[in-house]
Amino acid sequence: GEHVAIGILGLGTVGSGVVRMVHGHQEELQHKVGCKVVVEKVLVQDLEKERRVSPKQEWLTLDPDDVLSNPNIDVVIEVMGGIGLARKYILQALNNGKHVITANKDLMALHGAELLKTAADNGCDLFYEASVAGGIPIIRALKEGLASDRITKMMGIVNGTTNYILTKMDKQQLSFQDVLKEAQELGFAEADPTSDVEGLDAARKMAILSTLGFSMNIHLDDVDVKGITGVTKEDIDYARQFGYTIKLIGNARKDDGKVEVSVEPTLLPDTHPLSSVHNEYNAVYIYGEAVGETMFFGPGAGELPTATSVVSDLVAVIRNMRLGVNGKNDVAPQYEKQLKPLDE
Ligand code: NAP
Ligand code: HSE
Repeated sequence: GEHVAIGILGLGTVGSGVVRMVHGHQEELQHKVGCKVVVEKVLVQDLEKERRVSPKQEWLTLDPDDVLSNPNIDVVIEVMGGIGLARKYILQALNNGKHVITANKDLMALHGAELLKTAADNGCDLFYEASVAGGIPIIRALKEGLASDRITKMMGIVNGTTNYILTKMDKQQLSFQDVLKEAQELGFAEADPTSDVEGLDAARKMAILSTLGFSMNIHLDDVDVKGITGVTKEDIDYARQFGYTIKLIGNARKDDGKVEVSVEPTLLPDTHPLSSVHNEYNAVYIYGEAVGETMFFGPGAGELPTATSVVSDLVAVIRNMRLGVNGKNDVAPQYEKQLKPLDE
C-alpha cells in the first residue's frame, strides 16, 4: 500500500518516543521501507493528561477496540506495560491478524512462548527488541548476529534504574530515595519501581535473554534474584576504598544442558569494564563457543533510546510485509527443552 498505519497502546515515556521517532524520522523510515508510516490511533487512560508529545486529538481513544479491531491498522505497538490487559490486547491484536511490537519484558518473560506461538499461528510478527536493554539491539544480536554459535554464558547490567541509583549513590551524597525519584522523573523506572530495585526487572530480562540465547524454556521462577534495596552508601564507600564498585549483575550460564540464571549486587574490581558503565547505561557480555567474548553497550532505558528499538522493530515488520514472510522467522520449533537446574 501507500502507507502503513500503526496503533499504539499507551502514550507514556516510550509511546511518546515512538510518536516522536515516527514523525521526526519519517524520511529515514520511508527510505528504508519504501512507504509512509502513519499513526492511526493511540489508546490511553486519560484523554486530558499533559504529555511529552502533543497528540492529534483524533488519535486518542479510551476504547481498545479502536486499535485492536481497526481495519486500517496493520501494526499494534504495545507500550502500556502490565501483564493481564497487555496480554489480552496482544492476543486479540494477533488473532485479528495484526503484527505486534512490544517493549514489555514483564509479559515476554511470563507469556513469551504463548504469544510467539499465537503470532506464528496467525502469520504475524511479534517483535520485542525494546524489552531488554532499551536501545541496545541485543535480541537481534542473539536471534541473528550470533545465531550460528552455541552461547555458553551471558553476563551484564540490564537494568537502567538500579545502575543509575548505584552510580549516583557512589558519585554524589544522595540518598537512595532521592536518586530513585530522579530515575522516575527521567522516565527510566517502571510504573511500580519495586520491580527495578528488587531485581525483578533484571530477572525478567535475563529470563528472556537465556530463553533466546540457550534455546530453552527459562522461566522467571528459575532465576535467583536479589535486588539493591539492601545496598547502603556505606557499602559503596567501603567497596570503593578497596578498589571495587557495586553493580547489579545478571548472570546466565549453560553447561552440559544445564542452566543457571541469577541477578544480584556484585563487587567488581574498578578495572572491570562493567565498573565504568554509568547511569542508565547497560552492558552485556555474550560468550559463544565459536565467537568467544562479545560485549554490547548502550543506553538501557529512556524515551528515545527505547523508541529506537521499537521503531526498528517496525522497520523489520514492514520489510517482512513487503516480502510476505511475517510470522515465518523461526523455522524450527524453539524452546522445547526444559530447564535443568545445575544442582540437579
Ligand atoms: P508509562 O510512562 O507509565 O506509560 C504507560 C502508558 O500506558 C500511559 O500513557 C498510560 O495511559 C497507558 N496505559 C497504562 N495502562 C493502561 C490501560 N489499562 N489502558 C489504557 N492505557 C493504559 O510507561 P513507559 O515507561 O512508557 O513503559 C511502557 C512499557 O515499556 C512498559 O512495559 C515498560 O516496562 C517498557 N519499557 C520502558 C522503558 C523506559 O525506559 N521507560 C524501557 C524499555 C521498556 P495514561 O498516560 O493515560 O495514564
Ligand atoms: N525500568 C527499566 C530499567 C526500563 O530501568 O532498566 C528499561 O527496561
